[in-house]
Amino acid sequence: MSSAEPTILVTGGAGYIGSHTVLALKQAGYEVVILDNLVYGHRDLVEKVLQVELIEGDTSDRLLLDSLFKSRNIAAVMHFSAYAYVGESVTDPAKYYRNNVLGTLTLLEAMLAADVKKFVFSSTCATYGVPQFVPIPETHPQDPINPYGATKLMVERILSDFDVAYGFKSVRFRYFNAAGADPSGSLGEDHNPETHLIPLVLMTALGKREFISIFGTDYPTPDGTCIRDYIHVSDLADAHILGLEYLLKGGDSEVFNLGNGSGFSVREVIAAAQEVTGKVISVQECDRRAGDPPSLIGTSEKARKTLGWQPKYPDIKDIVAHAWQWHQRRHK
Ligand SMILES: NC(=O)c1ccc[n+]([C@@H]2O[C@H](COP(=O)([O-])OP(=O)(O)OC[C@H]3O[C@@H](n4cnc5c(N)ncnc54)[C@H](O)[C@@H]3O)[C@@H](O)[C@H]2O)c1
Repeated sequence: MSSAEPTILVTGGAGYIGSHTVLALKQAGYEVVILDNLVYGHRDLVEKVLQVELIEGDTSDRLLLDSLFKSRNIAAVMHFSAYAYVGESVTDPAKYYRNNVLGTLTLLEAMLAADVKKFVFSSTCATYGVPQFVPIPETHPQDPINPYGATKLMVERILSDFDVAYGFKSVRFRYFNAAGADPSGSLGEDHNPETHLIPLVLMTALGKREFISIFGTDYPTPDGTCIRDYIHVSDLADAHILGLEYLLKGGDSEVFNLGNGSGFSVREVIAAAQEVTGKVISVQECDRRAGDPPSLIGTSEKARKTLGWQPKYPDIKDIVAHAWQWHQRRHK
Protein backbone atom coordinates (compact mmCIF):
# COMPACT_ATOMS: atom_id res chain seq x y z
CA MET A 1 0.00 0.00 0.00
CA SER A 2 1.25 3.49 -0.86
CA SER A 3 1.44 6.07 1.91
CA ALA A 4 -0.81 9.06 1.22
CA GLU A 5 1.83 11.79 1.39
CA PRO A 6 3.25 12.59 -2.07
CA THR A 7 6.98 12.02 -1.82
CA ILE A 8 9.99 12.95 -3.92
CA LEU A 9 12.49 10.14 -4.45
CA VAL A 10 16.04 11.50 -4.63
CA THR A 11 18.67 9.09 -5.92
CA GLY A 12 22.21 10.07 -4.91
CA GLY A 13 20.76 12.28 -2.17
CA ALA A 14 23.68 11.45 0.13
CA GLY A 15 26.11 12.98 -2.36
CA TYR A 16 27.18 16.57 -2.93
CA ILE A 17 24.51 18.16 -5.15
CA GLY A 18 21.81 15.70 -4.09
CA SER A 19 22.20 16.50 -0.38
CA HIS A 20 21.92 20.24 -1.00
CA THR A 21 18.79 19.63 -3.05
CA VAL A 22 17.27 17.45 -0.33
CA LEU A 23 17.83 20.32 2.10
CA ALA A 24 16.07 22.71 -0.32
CA LEU A 25 13.21 20.21 -0.79
CA LYS A 26 12.76 19.92 2.97
CA GLN A 27 12.81 23.70 3.36
CA ALA A 28 10.15 23.92 0.62
CA GLY A 29 7.97 21.46 2.59
CA TYR A 30 8.38 18.29 0.49
CA GLU A 31 8.39 14.76 1.84
CA VAL A 32 11.65 13.13 0.68
CA VAL A 33 13.14 9.66 0.53
CA ILE A 34 16.76 9.13 -0.52
CA LEU A 35 18.05 6.11 -2.42
CA ASP A 36 21.85 5.97 -2.29
CA ASN A 37 24.24 3.03 -2.34
CA LEU A 38 26.71 5.10 -0.26
CA VAL A 39 29.60 4.24 -2.58
CA TYR A 40 30.36 7.97 -2.51
CA GLY A 41 27.56 9.32 -0.32
CA HIS A 42 27.71 10.28 3.36
CA ARG A 43 25.40 8.60 5.84
CA ASP A 44 26.36 11.03 8.61
CA LEU A 45 25.13 14.05 6.61
CA VAL A 46 21.80 12.37 5.87
CA GLU A 47 21.27 11.29 9.46
CA LYS A 48 22.57 14.36 11.29
CA VAL A 49 21.86 17.23 8.92
CA LEU A 50 19.12 16.22 6.50
CA GLN A 51 17.21 13.87 8.82
CA VAL A 52 15.22 12.21 6.04
CA GLU A 53 14.73 8.53 5.30
CA LEU A 54 17.73 6.89 3.61
CA ILE A 55 17.30 3.65 1.73
CA GLU A 56 20.73 2.15 1.22
CA GLY A 57 20.49 0.54 -2.19
CA ASP A 58 21.31 0.70 -5.84
CA THR A 59 19.37 2.03 -8.82
CA SER A 60 20.09 -1.23 -10.62
CA ASP A 61 18.15 -3.22 -7.99
CA ARG A 62 14.77 -3.62 -9.70
CA LEU A 63 13.17 -5.60 -6.85
CA LEU A 64 14.11 -2.89 -4.36
CA LEU A 65 12.78 -0.19 -6.70
CA ASP A 66 9.49 -2.02 -7.26
CA SER A 67 8.89 -2.36 -3.53
CA LEU A 68 9.92 1.26 -2.95
CA PHE A 69 7.41 2.52 -5.53
CA LYS A 70 4.70 0.21 -4.13
CA SER A 71 5.16 1.26 -0.53
CA ARG A 72 5.22 5.02 -1.13
CA ASN A 73 3.28 7.58 -3.07
CA ILE A 74 6.17 8.85 -5.23
CA ALA A 75 5.19 11.97 -7.21
CA ALA A 76 8.51 12.46 -9.02
CA VAL A 77 12.12 11.30 -9.05
CA MET A 78 15.22 13.46 -8.92
CA HIS A 79 18.12 11.44 -10.25
CA PHE A 80 21.56 12.54 -9.08
CA SER A 81 23.18 9.14 -8.70
CA ALA A 82 25.94 8.39 -11.20
CA TYR A 83 29.69 7.99 -11.33
CA ALA A 84 31.28 11.27 -12.37
CA TYR A 85 35.06 10.89 -12.62
CA VAL A 86 35.93 11.80 -16.20
CA GLY A 87 39.42 10.23 -16.11
CA GLU A 88 38.15 6.95 -14.65
CA SER A 89 35.43 6.84 -17.30
CA VAL A 90 38.19 6.74 -19.93
CA THR A 91 40.11 3.91 -18.25
CA ASP A 92 37.04 1.93 -17.11
CA PRO A 93 34.15 2.85 -19.42
CA ALA A 94 32.21 -0.36 -18.59
CA LYS A 95 31.76 0.84 -15.00
CA TYR A 96 30.27 4.11 -16.30
CA TYR A 97 27.96 2.63 -18.93
CA ARG A 98 26.73 0.07 -16.39
CA ASN A 99 25.97 2.52 -13.62
CA ASN A 100 25.06 5.68 -15.47
CA VAL A 101 23.12 4.16 -18.37
CA LEU A 102 21.97 0.69 -17.26
CA GLY A 103 21.30 1.80 -13.66
CA THR A 104 19.26 4.73 -14.95
CA LEU A 105 17.34 2.57 -17.44
CA THR A 106 16.42 0.16 -14.64
CA LEU A 107 15.14 3.07 -12.58
CA LEU A 108 13.17 4.47 -15.53
CA GLU A 109 11.56 1.08 -16.21
CA ALA A 110 10.57 0.76 -12.56
CA MET A 111 9.06 4.24 -12.74
CA LEU A 112 7.05 3.31 -15.84
CA ALA A 113 5.80 0.15 -14.15
CA ALA A 114 4.67 2.26 -11.18
CA ASP A 115 3.20 4.93 -13.49
CA VAL A 116 5.51 7.65 -12.13
CA LYS A 117 6.42 9.82 -15.11
CA LYS A 118 8.13 12.94 -13.80
CA PHE A 119 11.91 12.97 -13.69
CA VAL A 120 14.59 15.58 -12.98
CA PHE A 121 17.94 14.50 -14.39
CA SER A 122 21.52 15.61 -13.62
CA SER A 123 23.15 16.01 -16.99
CA THR A 124 26.32 17.92 -17.66
CA CYS A 125 28.12 20.42 -19.87
CA ALA A 126 30.44 17.46 -20.65
CA THR A 127 27.77 16.37 -23.17
CA TYR A 128 28.81 19.32 -25.38
CA GLY A 129 32.42 18.16 -25.75
CA VAL A 130 34.85 20.80 -27.01
CA PRO A 131 32.74 23.94 -27.46
CA GLN A 132 32.52 25.41 -30.93
CA PHE A 133 31.73 28.77 -29.31
CA VAL A 134 31.07 30.24 -25.85
CA PRO A 135 28.85 30.97 -24.03
CA ILE A 136 27.25 27.62 -24.79
CA PRO A 137 23.45 27.58 -25.26
CA GLU A 138 21.33 24.41 -24.96
CA THR A 139 21.18 24.27 -28.78
CA HIS A 140 24.96 23.84 -29.09
CA PRO A 141 25.83 20.48 -30.75
CA GLN A 142 26.46 17.66 -28.27
CA ASP A 143 29.59 15.66 -29.02
CA PRO A 144 31.13 14.37 -25.78
CA ILE A 145 34.85 13.59 -25.75
CA ASN A 146 34.81 11.07 -22.88
CA PRO A 147 32.64 8.11 -21.81
CA TYR A 148 31.27 10.02 -18.81
CA GLY A 149 29.78 12.70 -21.09
CA ALA A 150 28.60 9.98 -23.48
CA THR A 151 26.68 8.19 -20.70
CA LYS A 152 24.84 11.39 -19.81
CA LEU A 153 24.01 12.09 -23.45
CA MET A 154 22.67 8.54 -23.82
CA VAL A 155 20.32 9.08 -20.89
CA GLU A 156 19.18 12.38 -22.39
CA ARG A 157 18.36 10.50 -25.58
CA ILE A 158 16.51 7.77 -23.65
CA LEU A 159 14.45 10.46 -21.92
CA SER A 160 13.47 12.06 -25.26
CA ASP A 161 12.40 8.67 -26.62
CA PHE A 162 10.48 7.85 -23.41
CA ASP A 163 8.57 11.10 -23.75
CA VAL A 164 7.51 10.29 -27.32
CA ALA A 165 6.59 6.69 -26.53
CA TYR A 166 5.26 6.85 -22.97
CA GLY A 167 4.50 10.52 -22.25
CA PHE A 168 7.34 10.47 -19.69
CA LYS A 169 8.18 14.09 -18.72
CA SER A 170 11.67 15.12 -17.72
CA VAL A 171 13.70 18.19 -16.95
CA ARG A 172 17.31 17.65 -17.95
CA PHE A 173 19.71 20.03 -16.23
CA ARG A 174 23.14 20.40 -17.80
CA TYR A 175 25.28 21.70 -14.96
CA PHE A 176 28.53 23.50 -15.41
CA ASN A 177 30.95 23.31 -12.44
CA ALA A 178 29.05 22.83 -9.19
CA ALA A 179 30.90 24.58 -6.37
CA GLY A 180 30.50 26.11 -2.92
CA ALA A 181 28.53 24.83 0.03
CA ASP A 182 25.35 25.50 1.95
CA PRO A 183 25.79 29.01 3.47
CA SER A 184 24.97 27.64 6.96
CA GLY A 185 28.12 25.50 6.80
CA SER A 186 26.30 22.24 7.57
CA LEU A 187 26.67 20.65 4.12
CA GLY A 188 29.38 20.81 1.48
CA GLU A 189 31.56 19.02 -1.01
CA ASP A 190 33.29 15.87 0.22
CA HIS A 191 34.33 13.77 -2.76
CA ASN A 192 36.91 11.05 -2.28
CA PRO A 193 38.98 11.20 -4.39
CA GLU A 194 38.53 14.91 -4.95
CA THR A 195 39.23 16.25 -8.44
CA HIS A 196 37.47 19.62 -8.38
CA LEU A 197 39.50 22.82 -8.29
CA ILE A 198 37.93 24.76 -5.41
CA PRO A 199 38.09 21.97 -2.79
CA LEU A 200 41.64 21.12 -3.88
CA VAL A 201 42.69 24.77 -3.51
CA LEU A 202 41.07 24.92 -0.06
CA MET A 203 42.72 21.66 1.05
CA THR A 204 46.01 23.33 0.10
CA ALA A 205 45.04 26.36 2.21
CA LEU A 206 44.30 23.97 5.10
CA GLY A 207 47.75 22.38 4.75
CA LYS A 208 46.29 19.00 3.65
CA ARG A 209 48.03 19.31 0.27
CA GLU A 210 51.42 20.79 -0.48
CA PHE A 211 50.44 22.73 -3.59
CA ILE A 212 47.76 23.11 -6.21
CA SER A 213 48.66 22.10 -9.77
CA ILE A 214 47.78 24.44 -12.63
CA PHE A 215 47.48 22.39 -15.80
CA GLY A 216 48.44 24.71 -18.64
CA THR A 217 49.43 28.37 -18.43
CA ASP A 218 49.57 29.05 -22.17
CA TYR A 219 45.88 28.87 -23.11
CA PRO A 220 44.43 31.68 -25.26
CA THR A 221 42.78 33.27 -22.18
CA PRO A 222 43.69 36.60 -20.49
CA ASP A 223 45.96 34.98 -17.86
CA GLY A 224 46.82 31.80 -19.80
CA THR A 225 44.85 29.42 -17.52
CA CYS A 226 41.58 27.61 -18.25
CA ILE A 227 38.30 29.38 -17.63
CA ARG A 228 35.33 27.52 -16.14
CA ASP A 229 31.79 28.44 -15.17
CA TYR A 230 31.31 27.85 -11.40
CA ILE A 231 27.76 27.65 -10.14
CA HIS A 232 26.91 27.68 -6.43
CA VAL A 233 25.47 24.36 -5.30
CA SER A 234 22.62 26.08 -3.41
CA ASP A 235 21.67 27.88 -6.64
CA LEU A 236 21.64 24.48 -8.36
CA ALA A 237 19.39 23.16 -5.59
CA ASP A 238 16.98 26.09 -6.07
CA ALA A 239 16.83 25.37 -9.81
CA HIS A 240 15.89 21.77 -9.02
CA ILE A 241 12.92 22.87 -6.93
CA LEU A 242 11.78 25.11 -9.78
CA GLY A 243 12.29 22.30 -12.32
CA LEU A 244 10.34 19.88 -10.12
CA GLU A 245 7.46 22.32 -9.68
CA TYR A 246 7.43 23.00 -13.42
CA LEU A 247 6.91 19.27 -14.00
CA LEU A 248 4.38 18.86 -11.18
CA LYS A 249 2.32 21.65 -12.77
CA GLY A 250 2.22 19.66 -16.02
CA GLY A 251 5.21 21.22 -17.84
CA ASP A 252 6.57 19.56 -20.95
CA SER A 253 9.99 17.92 -21.14
CA GLU A 254 12.76 20.51 -21.29
CA VAL A 255 16.52 20.89 -21.12
CA PHE A 256 18.25 23.70 -19.27
CA ASN A 257 21.86 24.74 -18.77
CA LEU A 258 22.68 25.69 -15.21
CA GLY A 259 25.70 27.94 -14.96
CA ASN A 260 26.76 31.39 -13.89
CA GLY A 261 27.05 32.77 -17.41
CA SER A 262 30.50 34.10 -16.61
CA GLY A 263 33.69 32.21 -16.06
CA PHE A 264 36.69 32.39 -13.78
CA SER A 265 40.23 31.31 -14.62
CA VAL A 266 42.22 28.91 -12.47
CA ARG A 267 44.41 31.80 -11.32
CA GLU A 268 41.33 33.89 -10.46
CA VAL A 269 39.95 31.06 -8.32
CA ILE A 270 43.27 30.70 -6.50
CA ALA A 271 43.42 34.49 -5.94
CA ALA A 272 39.86 34.47 -4.55
CA ALA A 273 40.82 31.60 -2.22
CA GLN A 274 43.92 33.47 -1.00
CA GLU A 275 41.77 36.51 -0.24
CA VAL A 276 39.03 34.52 1.51
CA THR A 277 41.35 32.30 3.58
CA GLY A 278 44.13 34.83 4.18
CA LYS A 279 46.64 32.03 3.39
CA VAL A 280 49.33 31.82 0.75
CA ILE A 281 48.48 28.95 -1.57
CA SER A 282 51.47 27.30 -3.28
CA VAL A 283 51.04 26.45 -6.93
CA GLN A 284 52.85 24.15 -9.31
CA GLU A 285 52.59 24.98 -13.00
CA CYS A 286 52.26 21.86 -15.17
CA ASP A 287 51.68 21.02 -18.83
CA ARG A 288 48.19 21.11 -20.27
CA ARG A 289 45.99 18.03 -19.73
CA ALA A 290 44.55 16.31 -22.79
CA GLY A 291 40.93 17.19 -23.47
CA ASP A 292 40.76 20.43 -21.42
CA PRO A 293 39.15 23.16 -23.55
CA PRO A 294 40.42 26.71 -22.82
CA SER A 295 37.02 28.05 -21.85
CA LEU A 296 33.73 26.40 -20.81
CA ILE A 297 30.98 28.87 -20.07
CA GLY A 298 27.25 28.31 -20.45
CA THR A 299 24.34 30.60 -20.95
CA SER A 300 21.46 29.89 -18.56
CA GLU A 301 19.03 32.44 -19.96
CA LYS A 302 16.51 29.71 -20.72
CA ALA A 303 16.34 28.54 -17.07
CA ARG A 304 16.03 32.16 -15.95
CA LYS A 305 13.21 32.90 -18.38
CA THR A 306 11.25 29.63 -18.26
CA LEU A 307 11.71 28.69 -14.61
CA GLY A 308 12.31 32.16 -13.15
CA TRP A 309 15.64 30.94 -11.76
CA GLN A 310 17.85 33.64 -10.28
CA PRO A 311 21.22 32.52 -8.87
CA LYS A 312 21.82 34.11 -5.45
CA TYR A 313 25.57 33.60 -5.25
CA PRO A 314 27.20 34.38 -8.62
CA ASP A 315 30.26 35.97 -6.98
CA ILE A 316 33.27 33.62 -6.89
CA LYS A 317 34.24 35.03 -3.46
CA ASP A 318 30.89 33.94 -1.97
CA ILE A 319 31.27 30.51 -3.57
CA VAL A 320 34.77 30.11 -2.15
CA ALA A 321 33.84 31.60 1.26
CA HIS A 322 30.97 29.14 1.73
CA ALA A 323 33.19 26.24 0.66
CA TRP A 324 35.92 27.44 3.06
CA GLN A 325 33.51 27.54 5.99
CA TRP A 326 32.52 23.93 5.22
CA HIS A 327 36.07 22.63 4.70
CA GLN A 328 37.31 24.14 7.93
CA ARG A 329 34.51 22.37 9.79
CA ARG A 330 34.75 19.05 7.93
CA HIS A 331 38.54 18.71 8.06
CA LYS A 332 39.25 19.98 11.61
N1 LIG B 1 29.71 18.01 -9.36
C1 LIG B 1 29.61 18.60 -10.56
O1 LIG B 1 30.25 19.64 -10.80
C2 LIG B 1 28.72 18.03 -11.62
C3 LIG B 1 28.68 18.66 -12.88
C4 LIG B 1 27.82 18.14 -13.86
C5 LIG B 1 27.01 17.06 -13.58
N2 LIG B 1 27.09 16.45 -12.34
C6 LIG B 1 26.20 15.30 -12.09
O2 LIG B 1 25.46 15.58 -10.92
C7 LIG B 1 25.20 14.38 -10.19
C8 LIG B 1 25.64 14.56 -8.74
O3 LIG B 1 27.02 14.87 -8.72
P1 LIG B 1 27.78 15.00 -7.32
O4 LIG B 1 28.97 15.86 -7.54
O5 LIG B 1 26.80 15.33 -6.27
O6 LIG B 1 28.27 13.50 -7.14
P2 LIG B 1 28.41 12.61 -5.80
O7 LIG B 1 29.31 11.49 -6.14
O8 LIG B 1 28.73 13.47 -4.64
O9 LIG B 1 26.92 12.06 -5.61
C9 LIG B 1 26.43 10.95 -6.33
C10 LIG B 1 25.76 10.03 -5.32
O10 LIG B 1 25.18 8.93 -6.02
C11 LIG B 1 25.44 7.73 -5.30
N3 LIG B 1 25.37 6.65 -6.29
C12 LIG B 1 26.19 6.43 -7.35
N4 LIG B 1 25.75 5.38 -8.06
C13 LIG B 1 24.64 4.92 -7.44
C14 LIG B 1 23.73 3.87 -7.71
N5 LIG B 1 23.89 3.06 -8.75
N6 LIG B 1 22.68 3.69 -6.88
C15 LIG B 1 22.50 4.50 -5.80
N7 LIG B 1 23.33 5.52 -5.50
C16 LIG B 1 24.39 5.73 -6.30
C17 LIG B 1 26.77 7.95 -4.65
O11 LIG B 1 26.97 7.14 -3.50
C18 LIG B 1 26.72 9.45 -4.29
O12 LIG B 1 26.19 9.66 -3.01
C19 LIG B 1 25.93 13.27 -10.94
O13 LIG B 1 24.98 12.62 -11.76
C20 LIG B 1 26.95 14.02 -11.79
O14 LIG B 1 27.25 13.32 -12.97
C21 LIG B 1 27.91 16.92 -11.37
